[in-house]
Amino acid sequence: MPILSKLPNVGTTIFTVMSKLASDCGAINLSQGFPGFECDPELLDLVNKYMKAGFNQYAPMSGIPVLRERIADKTKLVYDVDLNSENEVTVVSGATEALYAAVTAVVRRGDEVILFDPAYDSYAPAIALNGGIPVYVPLEMPDFSVDWEKVKSAISDTTRLIMVNTPHNPSGYVWTQEDLDTLADLIQDTDILVVSDEVYEHITFDGRKHLSLVTHPTLRDRTFVCGSFGKTFHVTGWKIGYCLAPPQLTAEFRKVHQFLTFSTATPLQYALADYLAEPSRYLTLPDYYQQKRDLFCEGLKESPFKFTPAQGSFFQMVSYAHLSKESDYDLSVRLTKEIGVASIPISVFFSNKKDHKILRFCFAKKDSELYVALDKLKEIKL
Ligand SMILES: Cc1ncc(COP(=O)(O)O)c(C=O)c1O
Repeated sequence: MPILSKLPNVGTTIFTVMSKLASDCGAINLSQGFPGFECDPELLDLVNKYMKAGFNQYAPMSGIPVLRERIADKTKLVYDVDLNSENEVTVVSGATEALYAAVTAVVRRGDEVILFDPAYDSYAPAIALNGGIPVYVPLEMPDFSVDWEKVKSAISDTTRLIMVNTPHNPSGYVWTQEDLDTLADLIQDTDILVVSDEVYEHITFDGRKHLSLVTHPTLRDRTFVCGSFGKTFHVTGWKIGYCLAPPQLTAEFRKVHQFLTFSTATPLQYALADYLAEPSRYLTLPDYYQQKRDLFCEGLKESPFKFTPAQGSFFQMVSYAHLSKESDYDLSVRLTKEIGVASIPISVFFSNKKDHKILRFCFAKKDSELYVALDKLKEIKL
């Protein structure tokens, strides 16, 4: 029986393709965005403790109260913002769920949704499945900053939502106060809502601070902020995160979450609630990753690539446009097969798949692995 696909243009993601190729070739996998090292053993002990103590049945739909409180405490400590954990914080099964539930809660058939281009790959399908119309605003090369005049021109009477991602994947660009203020000015007299993907909130460099949209008085009232414990505590396979939103939006968000996953793994929630009690566990993350970014960038200086060190996230982009006409996809596959280092061609993040001759490397790996990868990258022929 022929099936009329609801997502005819979606295939296997490049992350799956490159990770499989890396594994088949025995290459160092700097493609997919997951840490190549273990999380803190104390976190594992806590999960074990709660599993063995019988915390294995459904958690409350919105998340266990103590974890919601700890998330609110973290928001107060890091951003100096007071949240009511009862009706402004929801625990979800990864930021991907939060993004999907937020889009589903507010986007109706025919609504326009503004996305920055390039964007993380889950946004467009979430919009499409809800009958929304994506409106792409290209980010400015080479730093992937926002041209606010372009955003202004993209806004129409049917714009329902703007999807924000800071720190940005794949570029690492971190929004400035001016970015937040300009967005607020543009939408304050409209009924446009915002979904802000902040999964790399604790990974910023060179003293730069992540400015959550929850810190902005105008934006806060109309934004779903999506966070991920997977990224923050090196446990991406656990798929657990949170959504912060004002009460009215949270109520709508929970109506979707309730029937999408209902609730999130109970022992993980108890373990993370205990673990969050010690703020140094997330406050030390910028230094931890800065050391890796610096190590990686130092080594890259001996490679033929051109790059500007990432402002945030655990990705480093490199350009080879000055050296070769080879497509980024072909080069990425060739490097995996020939020298044994896997990357992501960033054309996959663009709506039109345009090839800018840029590769993305994930440096959330053991230092020893980064050194081996760098030795190989020094040798490449372009
Ligand atoms: C920008 C961005 N948003 C969301 C996610 C997904 O987060 P989670 O694993 O918590 O669903 C990722 C993972 O790579 C990401 O890079």
